[in-house]
Amino acid sequence: MDQLLITRPDDWHVHLRDGVALRHTVRETAQCFARALVMPNLDPPVVTTEQALAYRQRILAAIPAGSAFQPLMTLYLTEESSPEEMQTAKASGAIHGVKLYPAGVTTHSSAGICNLERIYRVLEALEAHDLPLLIHAEVADPQVDVFDREQIFIERQLLPLVERFAGLRIVVEHVTTTEAIDFVRDAPMRVAATITAHHLLMNRNALLQGGIQPHHFCAPILQRERHRRALIRAAISGSPKFFLGTDSAPHPKASKECACASAGIYTAPIALGLYAEVFEAVGALDRLEAFSSHYGAYFYGLPRNSDTLCLQRTPTAVPSELDLGDDVVVPLRAGGTVAWTVMAS
Ligand code: NCD
Ligand code: ZN
Repeated sequence: MDQLLITRPDDWHVHLRDGVALRHTVRETAQCFARALVMPNLDPPVVTTEQALAYRQRILAAIPAGSAFQPLMTLYLTEESSPEEMQTAKASGAIHGVKLYPAGVTTHSSAGICNLERIYRVLEALEAHDLPLLIHAEVADPQVDVFDREQIFIERQLLPLVERFAGLRIVVEHVTTTEAIDFVRDAPMRVAATITAHHLLMNRNALLQGGIQPHHFCAPILQRERHRRALIRAAISGSPKFFLGTDSAPHPKASKECACASAGIYTAPIALGLYAEVFEAVGALDRLEAFSSHYGAYFYGLPRNSDTLCLQRTPTAVPSELDLGDDVVVPLRAGGTVAWTVMAS
């Protein structure tokens, strides 16, 4: 199979950033994806519907002429978020999920949640309005080993949450471990997960190949090979609970190539080709379409995209740097190649 024609995919977890970067990140996401669920961790974060609608307008203004790309917006939960705001969000029709960042786990998460009990009323509102809760499932506790943060979050926070809010739809974002996969698989159908291309492609050795590799550093961190294999099994399993979310998260080159590198990997322009590499390597290319283009839309209650996209098995060269407006970003595979190319439509 040298060509693959699939329903145009969506990206169910992306960081587009703001300002002059938008022209670049939006174009590079819109090249392949029809829709993208846009994360709200700007600085300051997108906490109200009004802020999300204004951010949406800035994204719309950055869409290249002729593109039908649609940004789907999210809100950022704080301990001050109100149940009324959740109702407003749902009524806007533009907001498709609400993001829970435990305070301190990742980029711009300091305004996030320290104590889940303080947002129970908000979670009840999400449940009542059928607005999905999107969770960065890691504990921020510095006593917990960095490689155990997801598993401990699941045990301490997520299991009780799923039980307590029996109608709440939940996406465990960017799952990285066997434990997370097992948890989602065994949970009710209202619980799903996104999987990134980089967690499918790399294990934690990639962080330390010949030296520290800051461009492979992300949150949650890359895990052992046995976890990567569990992610691949889930992605190709045909279960609608597992779908594509790139977590493409650009940082300026200077914030990555320094003494204290930021977490985040930029994959937007090459993401679909990377997923195709993974599926091809395990002989499951026939499963790529459902994972990339069907299951996410189904979970979010949206129609599948009506147009198609053609992937061809020809190597694409990846630039060593890409423009980010005022900065440059070093994408994953910088200076290398990706085995599959998205053909221009
Ligand atoms: C993301 C970012 O940079 O905004 N970073 C990352 O490593 N994934 C935040 C996030 O999704 O954790
Ligand atoms: Zn993210």
